[in-house]
Amino acid sequence: MSRVLIVGGAGYIGSHNVKFFLEKGVEVVVFDNLCLGHQENVDSRASFFKGDLMNVDDLNAVFEQYSFDAVLHFAAFSQVGESVKNPVKYYYNNVVGTLNLLDTMIKHDVKRFVLSSTAATYGEPKEIPITEQCPTEPVNPYGKTKLVIEGILKDFEAAYGLHYVSLRYFNACGAEYGIGEWHDPESHLIPLVLQTALGERSSISVFGTDYPTRDGTCVRDYIHIVDLASAHYMAVEHLLSHAESRLYNLGSGNGFTVKEIIDTCKEITGVDFKVEYGPRREGDPATLIASHDKIKKDWGWTPKYDLHMIISGAFEWHKKLKELKSS
Ligand SMILES: NC(=O)c1ccc[n+]([C@@H]2O[C@H](COP(=O)([O-])OP(=O)(O)OC[C@H]3O[C@@H](n4cnc5c(N)ncnc54)[C@H](O)[C@@H]3O)[C@@H](O)[C@H]2O)c1
Repeated sequence: MSRVLIVGGAGYIGSHNVKFFLEKGVEVVVFDNLCLGHQENVDSRASFFKGDLMNVDDLNAVFEQYSFDAVLHFAAFSQVGESVKNPVKYYYNNVVGTLNLLDTMIKHDVKRFVLSSTAATYGEPKEIPITEQCPTEPVNPYGKTKLVIEGILKDFEAAYGLHYVSLRYFNACGAEYGIGEWHDPESHLIPLVLQTALGERSSISVFGTDYPTRDGTCVRDYIHIVDLASAHYMAVEHLLSHAESRLYNLGSGNGFTVKEIIDTCKEITGVDFKVEYGPRREGDPATLIASHDKIKKDWGWTPKYDLHMIISGAFEWHKKLKELKSS
């Protein structure tokens, strides 16, 4: 593997993948319009190209300048609530943006692609753990955009010989390499809880305490971003040696309740912050846990980071981010 393009490489998951691929000795070019990303999080060893997926000239320029073994695509909007209120924003950026990218790839004869897909493609799960065979019935426009993209990929494979790996992540979390999660606004549980512990929020809200789970709060599957990155590296290695597409779940295979996350954050930070319990939020399934048996069986991938490592690393990053924001 010599050079990859990381689209959305200034974002949370993309910037960790940039580091992971660089550490493996792979040359990395980042394409990002910085609408949500942070250039400070892009390793200076990577070449940075400021461009927008909605601008085909930007895409052509990067593909004319470089040749790539593969493209990893992390750039998307991913706020579920916003996608319900403003689906046009999501269909344009996620679907049309990806279509522009794929079209440009084919024109430049680059035919290996890794997609950041999501557990939201499944919707309300019919069984736990969720396997790749489970029905895909997304319940919000965000999840639907990713399912549409997976459909486009199948058609591009049949028509143009593009090969892809679609990775359906569960809850990405943690921090490594001195960078971390930096969403604005933040909607993910662990950063919200840690910001509360650091006094940046007055309390943390818990939505629903009457779910059929061990303590009444929702159960989610948390997967560390370096475990995600190692799967992306395996995906590119696979595509380089096999002309065949794959689709996998990426989760830890374990579930933690919201209360368990809060308690672990309290234990790690040593801060007893305020927790407010409220009613359920519409559209939150009680439990989402991945089966990762398929990727484990095919590629030997297993997650290496447990919840303590995830929260400890994230806490170190959030302390640093607080300083960065106030300087
Ligand atoms: N964070 C999670 O838990 C999670 C879970 C499942 C799937 N995903 C998927 O993983 C991917 C990365 O998520 P993230 O949390 O790192 O998001 P992020 O918002 O931190 O990163 C997205 C990056 O894409 C860039 N971008 C967006 N639109 C662009 C455009 N039109 N042109 C160029 N760049 C553009 C942004 O500037 C940003 O740097 C997304 O596709 C998301 O749907 C994330």
